[in-house]
Amino acid sequence: IWSFLNVEKEPVTVLVTGAAGQIGYALVPMIARGAMLGPDQPVIIHMLDIEPAAEALNGVKMELIDAAFPLLKGVVATTDVVDACNGVNIAVMVGGFPRKEGMERKDVMSKNVSIYKAQASALEQHAAPDCKVLVVANPANTNALILKEFAPSIPEKNITCLTRLDHNRALGQISEKLDVHVSEVKNVIIWGNHSSTQYPDVNHATVNTNNGQKPARELVGDDKWLNTEFITTVQQRGAAIIKARKLSSALSAASSACDHIRDWVLGTPKGTWVSMGVYSDGSYGIPQGLIYSFPVTCEKGEWSIVQGLKIDELSREKIDATAKELVEEKTLAYSCLN
Ligand code: NAD
Ligand code: LMR
Repeated sequence: IWSFLNVEKEPVTVLVTGAAGQIGYALVPMIARGAMLGPDQPVIIHMLDIEPAAEALNGVKMELIDAAFPLLKGVVATTDVVDACNGVNIAVMVGGFPRKEGMERKDVMSKNVSIYKAQASALEQHAAPDCKVLVVANPANTNALILKEFAPSIPEKNITCLTRLDHNRALGQISEKLDVHVSEVKNVIIWGNHSSTQYPDVNHATVNTNNGQKPARELVGDDKWLNTEFITTVQQRGAAIIKARKLSSALSAASSACDHIRDWVLGTPKGTWVSMGVYSDGSYGIPQGLIYSFPVTCEKGEWSIVQGLKIDELSREKIDATAKELVEEKTLAYSCLN
């Protein structure tokens, strides 16, 4: 009589673009193991890459089959954007060109924004109407903005970019500094652009201790470090990884992409917010329509910007500076498209 409880859920179709690349290679097994949508959610994975990577992409498909993942109900590996987008419920847009040592993320702008303009139309026409989109490829906020502007029929709320990696990096820095486990730290904020102007803000962050929840700033007890080195370390972490690996971050990017989608779809834990690049509704004085990283909570598949946080003067300057960069990037993106 209880057998209905075991009825398997319908599979969710997840698109990963740039799937033959290094983030793709780390990401698809995480999705197939349930790290993105939960351990009881079957998935079908669509992988898109370009012709020169077709053979490598097929190799990834072979490995997915060989791994015999119980949750994986189908794999499509294709260089055809229409086949790739067909019926997808979640689109993780990783395809593009990564930056190399010495470049800023906006230096890859001209190569990547035209990809996002083209793929916007394919998603609009062929993805499921309620498809949720996460842009990972850099410049992530501006690629997402272009995708949003060239896919007007996709609800604005469904187009986001990844700043969860920066959020997790900030949690990691506080955890290292205090020698506490990272899961005890929460409610840091990444404001703005996934670039070196982002503002990692600890003013509302807390840490679980044996004596209850304490403000992170109070526990660290070193405002100078928090206002300088902490911020620059998080801002420059992507560059530090490139310098060390000669390749940009991949496993942490893939893991954060899973965190982003999981929290968006399944909800953020009570009392916890996360950072997501989402379109601005004007909250905190950020120009409307920009894709800007805010603190958000998620419930029933919808994100909401955390309102009413007190913003001090130093924070205000940094929040505005990263918004200004995004306005400039938008102009630059349009000039690349013309
Ligand atoms: P990679 O070069 O290893 O892989 C990118 C893949 O995209 C390649 O296989 C390439 O063939 C493919 N590609 C290129 N054009 C494409 C197109 N039009 N359609 C589909 N696929 C296409 O790069 P990577 O290290 O996996 O990084 C991917 C992107 O993610 C880069 O832009 C990188 O800067 C960015 N990134 C973002 C974050 C973040 O936190 N937002 C973190 C790490 C990396
Ligand atoms: C990162 O933050 O690691 C990525 O955006 C890669 C990069 O170019 O820094």
